[in-house]
Amino acid sequence: MLSAYEIIAKKRDGLELSEEEIKWFIQGLLAGKVADYQMSALLMAIYLNGFSSKETASLTDVMLYSGKTLNFNAQHVVDKHSTGGIGDKTSFILAPLAAACGVRVPMIAGRGLGHTGGTVDKVEAIPGFKTSLSLEEFQRTLEKEGLVLIGQTGEIAPADKIIYGLRDVTATIESIPLITASIMSKKLAEGAQGIVMDIKVGNGAFMRNKAQARKLATSIRNTGLRFNRNMMTVISDMNQPLGNAVGNSLEIIESIETLKGKGPKDLTDLSLHLAGGMVHLSGLAKTHSAGIRKAREALKSGKALKVFKEMIKRQGGDEKVIDDYGILPLANNHHVVAASRNGYIKKMEATQIGLHVVQLGGGRQKASDKIDFGVGLTFHKKIGDRVKEGEPILTIHHNENQKELVLKMADDLLERDISFSTTKPQKLPSLIYETQTSWY
Ligand code: URA
Repeated sequence: MLSAYEIIAKKRDGLELSEEEIKWFIQGLLAGKVADYQMSALLMAIYLNGFSSKETASLTDVMLYSGKTLNFNAQHVVDKHSTGGIGDKTSFILAPLAAACGVRVPMIAGRGLGHTGGTVDKVEAIPGFKTSLSLEEFQRTLEKEGLVLIGQTGEIAPADKIIYGLRDVTATIESIPLITASIMSKKLAEGAQGIVMDIKVGNGAFMRNKAQARKLATSIRNTGLRFNRNMMTVISDMNQPLGNAVGNSLEIIESIETLKGKGPKDLTDLSLHLAGGMVHLSGLAKTHSAGIRKAREALKSGKALKVFKEMIKRQGGDEKVIDDYGILPLANNHHVVAASRNGYIKKMEATQIGLHVVQLGGGRQKASDKIDFGVGLTFHKKIGDRVKEGEPILTIHHNENQKELVLKMADDLLERDISFSTTKPQKLPSLIYETQTSWY
C-alpha cells in the first residue's frame, strides 16, 4: 500500500519516485485523499532535490490526463507558448502569420500573472471579443478556420490549477521540472502536433540566466518528445520590454501596426522567427529559414492582417479596430518622462516596468481586480539608445485620479528602473540567443 508520508520521505531523501507513486499521489490530491499540506511538502522536496526527466514525464502525464484532451481532425496543427515577459504580444502577430501560411493554430492563452501581462486580457481590450468558447466550438473553429484564441478552461489539466496555486504560495514556482510539467500538461492536452516554446531570459523573466533557460528548454523539448510532439525551443531576451508598448490596448495597437508592416524591429523579428518555426514544425517549410521567408511574405502581402481581422470578427470582436484604434479603451491622460541628463540607456529593470503597469490598473493585484485596458507605458528609447537632456524616454498613459502615483512612478523609473551611462554600452542584449528543434 502506498502512503503520502512515504512518498514525501522518499523524495526528501533524494530518491527517484516511480511512475506509480507519482500517479497515486496526484490522483489522491484530486480525489481529496492527499492533503494540500502533503502536496506542498512534496513540491518543496522536488524543488530542493530535483526530478529526473522520467519523473517529470510521469508528473506531466498524470496532470495532462486529469482533464479533457483534444485531438484534432486536421493536419499542420502547431501552437506556440511563451514563458512570459513584459510587452510580449507576439501571439497576435505570429498566430495570423502562421495561419496565413497554412498552419492551424489552436491558442489557449493565459491571463496576466504577477508582473507579466496575459494574452487573454490583452485581446479582451477589443470590444466584443469572446475568449470563452466551449472546447467543442474551439475544436470546430480550429478545424474549419485554422485559427482560434480562447482563455484557459478548467476542463484542461485541472490538476495544474491546484498545484500551481500551491506553488504560488509555497515559494516553489521557480523549479524547472515543475514549470515543465505545468506548461506541458496544458499544451499537450490542447492537441497540437508541434509546439514552439519561447523561453524568456533576463530580469523580466522567470529564468534569470541563460544556463537556467537552457535547462528549461532541454526539459521542455525532452518532455514533448516523450509525448510524440515536434518541438522547437527559442531562448529570447527579456531584459527590457519587447516592442515599445506595455499595457493592454496599447499592445493591441502595436500588434496591428506590426501586422501592417510598421512595427518595432525587435517585435517584428521575433514574431517572424517564431512564426517561421511554426511553419517549419508543421511540415509546410523544409527549413526554419524557409518558414521565416513564408511568414515574411504573409506579412508583406497583408494576408496575415486579413487573417487577424477575420479572427476578430469570428470571435465577436469589433473588426473596425484594424483601422480605428479609437474604438479601444484608451487613457485620457499622458505624462512624458524625459531624460534628466545626456547619455545612453544602459539597463532597464523589466520586472519593475511590468509592476508599474499593474499598479496603473493594467494588471491584477488580486484575482478579483478589474483590468483597466487603456493604461500603460510606451517607450521612445530602448537599451543602447542615446538620449539628450529633456528628450522623452517614455510616456505613462494613466487616468485622471492617478497624478500622484504617476509622479512617483516617473521618479522611480528615472532614478531606479532605468540606468544611464555617459558612454555607449559595449554589449547590448541580443534578441534571440538560441533556437533548437527536435523531431519525434
Ligand atoms: N507558466 C505556467 O503555466 N506554469 C508555470 O509553472 C510557469 C509559467
